[in-house]
Amino acid sequence: MKPHILQLNPILVPSINERLDALYTMHRLYEQPDPDACLREHGGSIRGVITGGHTGIARGLMERLPALEIVAVNGVGTDAVDLGYARARKLPVTGTFGALTEDVADLAIGLLLATCRNVCAVDRFVRSGSWVRHPQPSAIPLARRFSGMRVGIVGLGRVGRAVATRVNAFGCPVSYTDLGPMPDVAWQYVPDLQQLARDSDALIVCAAADKAEGIIDAAVLDALGPQGFLVNVARGRLVREADLVRALRERRIAGAGLDVFVDEPNVPPVLFELDNVTLQAHRASATVETRTAMAEMVLASLAQALAGERPTHSLTT
Ligand code: 8YV
Repeated sequence: MKPHILQLNPILVPSINERLDALYTMHRLYEQPDPDACLREHGGSIRGVITGGHTGIARGLMERLPALEIVAVNGVGTDAVDLGYARARKLPVTGTFGALTEDVADLAIGLLLATCRNVCAVDRFVRSGSWVRHPQPSAIPLARRFSGMRVGIVGLGRVGRAVATRVNAFGCPVSYTDLGPMPDVAWQYVPDLQQLARDSDALIVCAAADKAEGIIDAAVLDALGPQGFLVNVARGRLVREADLVRALRERRIAGAGLDVFVDEPNVPPVLFELDNVTLQAHRASATVETRTAMAEMVLASLAQALAGERPTHSLTT
């Protein structure tokens, strides 16, 4: 009999879905007309869960799965999984560590460039016919230079380091904050986040959300100041969204490039009106290459756990 797997988030790579279907009896909860009925019927036989980083899994749902042997997160953020509970149950929780680093860093650069050079705002200006109606150059305000900006990285993990390497190529001096200085890098460590913001033209948020909720608040944004840009490719709740909206509206910071939000897919509507904001829909890892590599890691972790081995990328066992 094929092992039963519960999937909480779609995987958009057809060949991976075919392999999942060949190996396992898949229960795709997001396709079920009555998810609760599906859990009542199959909960007892589920041996593995596949979920997304942002979705995670509620502790209550894990408690309904007595035969569970693995939670395979198709992502690197494990902040939406109760790791303490999983540890107590000796349940491996795996992530796709390393698979999405380059793409997330790429999008961080894209968001910063797009925001400071007004790429999307000017795209809208051209598409709407405004350029023809207002051909004088003064119709579009001058942008801000990206090359050479002082970049502050919040969280120097894999993604933070990949962002630092990229901005270095643009001649940007890099500083960072984290729980402590990293002995293997030459970038400047700044222990205090407000100080980092004060010393930066752009802050790029790359931190894990587990213990850092709300660290980007009004005080940090004011330290960044009216010439400063914020980019977030990590988790929405690292930022106090109401503070950010107010700072953008009042032009107390210059702009923001945001891939993540507190209550996805709900984005504060006031942001739609602002030209100094570039918005994405939690897309940083969403390329064919990366999502394929991530899904391969999910498949490998499932196979290891269900064979009774410790999954290589387990955080909890
Ligand atoms: C993914 C993420 O969008 O890795 C994470 O933690 O949030 C994202 O890369 C998500 O996990 C895809 O399901």
